[in-house]
Amino acid sequence: MNRLGREALKHSSTKAWNMPETTYHAVFVRDALEVIRSLPDHSIQLIICDPPYNLELAEWDKFPNYLEWAKLWLNEVPRILSESGSIAIFGGLQYQEEKGGDLLELMHYLRHHSTLRLVNLIIWHYKNGMSAHRFFANRHEEIAWYANTKNYVFDLDAVRTPFDEATKAAYLRDKRLRPESVEKGKNPTNVWEIGRLNGNAVERVGHPTQKPVEVIRRLIRALSYPNSIVLDFFAGSGVTTRVCVEECRHSIIADQNSSLLTYLDAQMVQIRDSLLCPYEILHSPELNLLPHWHLSNNQSDVSSKQDAISARITAKITKTEGDISGSGGPSKTGEMAGQLSLLV
Ligand SMILES: C[S@@+](CC[C@H](N)C(=O)[O-])C[C@H]1O[C@@H](n2cnc3c(N)ncnc32)[C@H](O)[C@@H]1O
Repeated sequence: MNRLGREALKHSSTKAWNMPETTYHAVFVRDALEVIRSLPDHSIQLIICDPPYNLELAEWDKFPNYLEWAKLWLNEVPRILSESGSIAIFGGLQYQEEKGGDLLELMHYLRHHSTLRLVNLIIWHYKNGMSAHRFFANRHEEIAWYANTKNYVFDLDAVRTPFDEATKAAYLRDKRLRPESVEKGKNPTNVWEIGRLNGNAVERVGHPTQKPVEVIRRLIRALSYPNSIVLDFFAGSGVTTRVCVEECRHSIIADQNSSLLTYLDAQMVQIRDSLLCPYEILHSPELNLLPHWHLSNNQSDVSSKQDAISARITAKITKTEGDISGSGGPSKTGEMAGQLSLLV
């Protein structure tokens, strides 16, 4: 256990935030690139990116030149991410020779042609999968986590896993360790053992490549914070919005297939009894009319601490006065205070 853990300290990569009164979720049946290009600079905290695999699994999975297509959206990522923002890209490495385009190609391109910084290559390991006879059966996918700058958000405490009973008991007897640190649990590491969704899984809403809530939740909890904005432009089953609703984040999702709307309805039915924050789903809204989009765009990249502190004080004063001009919507006071307080 390191010093932060022993002394129950928070790492500086976490941010202060205010709980939103309402979260907003913009949903588009539209091409990914069209949505990305309509987004303001530095407006997004986290991109969950689960692109087609280039395995010809479906019509949407066939590409004459996968990398040339991927470059179009990869090149937009540094512009739309906030200074503290990240992108998590799902994919596999084992198909490269056969198809000439996979996560390895994307990572190679990013290494040589992008300012994005690789933080972790997460191995998502599962025990359930297809059998194989000509090679070792595949039991993992990769999630490449890139940050926009070195000032990225990482809330480890939000995703710690409990120690096993024997280790916990030993740590609790160790006088050098604070019991509250031990209670917080351990770093889940960059190997995540989480089952893939079986055909009859309760979570399933019908999309053939739907990702488990647990994987998406871990990414959203660690790499974003309540009141921030998460984007998923290959949204598939809408699981990203489902988790954002549960975790009090705003979301923007898009898929070229209109089944997204049906899947999303089914996702919302699954969580209707367990909601923390009120939420609104907005179909194809004008993004520039949403108040918190503007706020995060304008306010996210203040670099000097002094500016940030001033902003926070201003926000507190403004909140007390209950009068924020220039933004609309039902929860504008809470949102403004939330976005500004994130700066410190
Ligand atoms: C691998 S699936 C995403 C699954 C999703 N992460 C989930 O857990 O449900 C990829 C999705 O990208 C969509 N897609 C493919 N090309 C697209 C494009 N150019 N614009 C928008 N969506 C696209 C497909 O329709 C498909 O639903």
